[in-house]
Amino acid sequence: MTAAPTFVRACALEELAEDTPKRVELDGTPVCVVRTEGEVFAINDICSHANVSLAEGEVEDCQVECWLHGSSFDLRTGKPSGPPATRPVPVYPVKIEGDDVLVSVTQES
Ligand code: FES
Repeated sequence: MTAAPTFVRACALEELAEDTPKRVELDGTPVCVVRTEGEVFAINDICSHANVSLAEGEVEDCQVECWLHGSSFDLRTGKPSGPPATRPVPVYPVKIEGDDVLVSVTQES
């Protein structure tokens, strides 16, 4: 049986500048929240190649680039577009309620 996703508040929508990732911690999970191309995305903040924060990278074309070795991760799927990272990072459902950005980190993918 799959539990319904539980959404928790990540931040205010106005705290998210376009293409500027923000790191938050939700239920002990580090999450990189990005507002880009008119949408908000939430992706696990730890690069799948090594233990660094993706929120410190740059956003372009709906991808966040890891600052350390340059793999880019698709914000919609979590998949890396090229090496050295080979594994995807988890992505999480996002809901906007009023001025709040809500993210569910409980969903199994
Ligand atoms: S640590 Fe992210 S690509 Fe190497």
